[in-house]
Amino acid sequence: MSTSRVDVGDRLERHGATPARESTPSARAFVLEVSDLSVHYGVDANMVRAVHDVTLNVRRSTVLGVAGESGSGKSTLVYALTRLLRAPGVISGGQAILNVSSPDDPTQVTPVNLTTASERELRRVRWSHVSIVLQSALNALNPVRRIGREFDEVLRTHRRSLSRSDRRRRAAELLALVGLEPDRLDRFPHELSGGQRQRTMIALALALDPELVVMDEPTTALDVVTQREIITELAELRSRFGFAMIFITHDLSLLVELADEIVVMYAGSIVERANAGELYAAPRHPYTLGLLESFPPLHGERRELTGIAGSPPDLAAESVGCSFAPRCPFAMDRCRAESPPLAPLGDTGRSVACWLHTEHSVVPVPAPLARRWTVPSGPAAPGVSR
Ligand SMILES: Nc1ncnc2c1ncn2[C@@H]1O[C@H](COP(=O)(O)OP(=O)(O)OP(=O)(O)O)[C@@H](O)[C@H]1O
Ligand code: SF4
Ligand SMILES: [Mg+2]
Repeated sequence: MSTSRVDVGDRLERHGATPARESTPSARAFVLEVSDLSVHYGVDANMVRAVHDVTLNVRRSTVLGVAGESGSGKSTLVYALTRLLRAPGVISGGQAILNVSSPDDPTQVTPVNLTTASERELRRVRWSHVSIVLQSALNALNPVRRIGREFDEVLRTHRRSLSRSDRRRRAAELLALVGLEPDRLDRFPHELSGGQRQRTMIALALALDPELVVMDEPTTALDVVTQREIITELAELRSRFGFAMIFITHDLSLLVELADEIVVMYAGSIVERANAGELYAAPRHPYTLGLLESFPPLHGERRELTGIAGSPPDLAAESVGCSFAPRCPFAMDRCRAESPPLAPLGDTGRSVACWLHTEHSVVPVPAPLARRWTVPSGPAAPGVSR
């Protein structure tokens, strides 16, 4: 697929976008670098602080999982960093840099600041370099257009050299990648099942060989069997084509099977970040532990399903201290007064925002947050550490 990619770096430069710079090791390693990104909805007393100071990097050709309950800010985060955020949503701080690599020389990288990019720059990088399958993807296909026209439009806009029959052939190839017959191109969306529509959206997202694919809960509306099949297909496609992926879900057990690294969001902030296997085997934030105890594991040791008592905070209200304190079984006085920063957990390479794990904590870490579980041994995507 990569042979069809054009050198967007050169084109961006010619059009006055962010100039190519000497590629830094970080830009070569990470396809996306997000720092201190904050988003709110509305103004004044009704302002909802949906995302606070989120910093994360997506390493090339890896899967970053984003987990968290409903309302934790997962979709807002990806809308903001792909600039699909609509009013009353506003990016109130931070930036997201997409490091666009040259297909001829992957060491040459052009950073594109997605937070400040013009609409023209965004049109050049969307689909070709970063594509997104939205949470509402099942309804995203135009009901009065045949599936083939959706593919034709994307290919005609971004691959002008392709003839009509080339575009048709390419669309059929893309459908085949996700296990759909070419005759589906002549169908309307209502003639496809939910799983087939979702596969169609995934094929469209891969149409231009992007470096980064963002999937916002792509399988949540589907039955468990179809969900499983699509996750397996996605893992295979990723390892075959080498794109990086941000995969959002509230089901942490599912994510552990697909992701290389996971960030857990609560009330708009990242509360834990770790290698997927490590996060599963040894959750260190009480909220991560609660999430893992909310879903049955697909493989591995059984955990008692207890869920998380209470509900997430009102993001329009001013909060003091740790936002998880009202639901946390381990909350201390300090938790209600001061908000814990996301800080490295020793030299483990992972980070957690919890006063229990700070270097100077005088409180011993509670047993459930100090133990290790057996890591699932089922079929997993390449790259998942076991
Ligand atoms: N258009 C909007 N106007 C006001 N508030 C909004 C808007 N969209 C989202 N929010 C609020 O922002 C917060 C984060 O919402 P978001 O949709 O990002 O959560 P999520 O983690 O994706 O949830 P889900 O798992 O249900 O998709 C929530 O409190 C939500 O109510
Ligand atoms: S900082 Fe305190 S309230 Fe927050 S998660 Fe840690 S122990 Fe619980
Ligand atoms: Mg969402």
